[in-house]
Amino acid sequence: MIENIENLRSKIRYHDGKYYVENMPEISDYEYDQLMKELEKLESAHPQLISPDSPTQRVSGEPVSEFTSIEHSIPMLSIENTYSEEELREFDKRIRRILKDVEEIEYVVELKIDGIAITLWYENGIFMRGATRGNGFRGDDVTMNLRTVKDIPLRFLCINDKVIPPVIEIRGEIYLPNREFQRLNKRREETDEPQFANPRNAAAGSLKLLNPHTTAKRPLRLFAYAFGYYENGRFTNHIECLEVIKEFGLPVNPHYKLCRDIDEVISYCNSWETKRGNLDYQVDGMVVKVNLLELHDKLGSTSKAPRWIMSYKFNPEDATTKIEAIKVQVGKTGTLTPVAELSPVPLSGTTVSRASLHNFDEIERKDIRVGDYVVVQKAGEIIPQVVKVITEKRTGSVRRFDVPERCPVCKSDVIKEKVALKCYNPLCTAQAKRRIMYFVSKNAMDIEGFGPAIIEQLVDKKIIEDYADIYSLKFDDLEPLERMGEKSARNLLDAIGKSKSRDLHCLICALGILNVGAHAAEVLSKHFGTFDKLMDTSVEELDEIFEIGEITAKSIVDFFSNSHTKDVINKLKAAGVNLSAIRKEAKTASNIAEKSFVVTGTLNGYTRKEIEDIIKNLGGKVSSAVSGKTDFLIAGESPGSKLEAAEKLGTTILSKEEFENLIKRT
Ligand code: IVH
Repeated sequence: MIENIENLRSKIRYHDGKYYVENMPEISDYEYDQLMKELEKLESAHPQLISPDSPTQRVSGEPVSEFTSIEHSIPMLSIENTYSEEELREFDKRIRRILKDVEEIEYVVELKIDGIAITLWYENGIFMRGATRGNGFRGDDVTMNLRTVKDIPLRFLCINDKVIPPVIEIRGEIYLPNREFQRLNKRREETDEPQFANPRNAAAGSLKLLNPHTTAKRPLRLFAYAFGYYENGRFTNHIECLEVIKEFGLPVNPHYKLCRDIDEVISYCNSWETKRGNLDYQVDGMVVKVNLLELHDKLGSTSKAPRWIMSYKFNPEDATTKIEAIKVQVGKTGTLTPVAELSPVPLSGTTVSRASLHNFDEIERKDIRVGDYVVVQKAGEIIPQVVKVITEKRTGSVRRFDVPERCPVCKSDVIKEKVALKCYNPLCTAQAKRRIMYFVSKNAMDIEGFGPAIIEQLVDKKIIEDYADIYSLKFDDLEPLERMGEKSARNLLDAIGKSKSRDLHCLICALGILNVGAHAAEVLSKHFGTFDKLMDTSVEELDEIFEIGEITAKSIVDFFSNSHTKDVINKLKAAGVNLSAIRKEAKTASNIAEKSFVVTGTLNGYTRKEIEDIIKNLGGKVSSAVSGKTDFLIAGESPGSKLEAAEKLGTTILSKEEFENLIKRT
């Protein structure tokens, strides 16, 4: 028995790591909850075997190391959850047992948003900092990223002249709308970056980015649902809290309902089981809360979760189908991805005929074989995933899938890199096709009419080998292709010609350097100004550039030192492609542009790096010592000798608030 329990625990810890730390869960929430329930059941049957480090004995998850961690003023506990109506009735009965003399117990039922829990700290109505839930007691300080979320007011709106408590914490869920999730994944597919499995992972990934600029490009949203710590506030019931949150200007999900008894709760919960499919965000269940706040205190908490709240989770929709084949796709940078081809089956409103298998280890781990019947589920209701094999349905005719030792297209040996298999042959036609598709795509050289079907034919017929060859294409190469006519061939040649004068950042992006997408390309173009300077750079120089990290720096230098790259670039040069940045009028709007700053002391709500990043992003410069050239000294608490130096030199000294006002006007 002890062995069973230990096995389950290590399984759960493994999946905790995947989910909370790596943001790459391998199993669905439902499967995870089943494991947890099994462990809880075993432990309650054998309480002598409960150990303090069992996953049931704590709120799971550890903060990642890159962010500063913040201790929560009030722990962010988890909620007990159930998939059954009976347990929901049990929850009501338990409450009535504890609150014997309370006759009517009202519940508020809300949608359970499947996103990332966060807490927001406001002082006198100003947003000071925000953190993720982390392990429930300490979370990551993600203030800079949260500041990019448009739903989070930096200052309370305060409709109805509400009195603002001096300190108030608001808790809620950050999520990425389905539409934005699909758009993001499509972009990532084009740049050969790994796909996010579902909107929740995409939201988590975006919130944990170290660069707030990248986060700002991900349209994260918020639904707030509760207060955390507050001073001098007086609230009677949960509905009132939601109303006040709205008055402060934070979005509250509109579909909450006050229910008079558990029957009403259950029927409202059930009414959302199918309706949730029409929403543009993921809802994985309902949350039932006791409305009266004084009852929360009376009910208290168990070691795991408060007794006044329960979540009622929806069973994920799934379907059974057969794996007809497992195909291997080759990406732009040579990553091999297995894809299951399925007998088409209807699932949550669409017909599913393919499912990503993520990587080859997963096929082995789940023991998926060609010909197997499998359960498929939409991860986050969008991308189909193979959940498990129905081994009882397995016949003698299933076939194990052989992990490829060679690239399925160019047949060169593949190399294992972490969980990925990669083809490193620079001449691999599968990669060449992907690279050319990327070269001509919108963010890159934006060549209209150059679709995948044309690229396929040109590469297969060996008319072109790489993207530089497109500049030597002639009318006679194009006109005979399928789906081409005289007019479209001429238009395409025209579009190819026009692309030669695109700005430098388009070309840098189009090269398809590992880790260099459209944004990094703009940064590089701005920094170097000419292509030759970029080609000549070193890892050290690149590493100095704000927004270019060491890994990207290395992949840029690796790219340019490759002999095949050199040939391709010579062809691009010979074709007359523009190799320098087109000068744009310098931005004059910023109050800070070209100004020199020194920061001293502690600034509540910002780390030193955050302040420096804000300045640099607005075009200012940051130095470490005050000199005659310093325009501003930002002085926080306990400023030290820099303040004296600035006073002597007559440098303008800004408090944190004055600095915030200055940037607001920028
Ligand atoms: S209330 C004491 N309300 O679900 C806990 N949580 O599985 C207070 N969640 O960590 C949380 N929608 O991230 C609450 N309407 C809602 C919610 C909600 C989603 C999340 C939250 C929590 C998790 C528990």
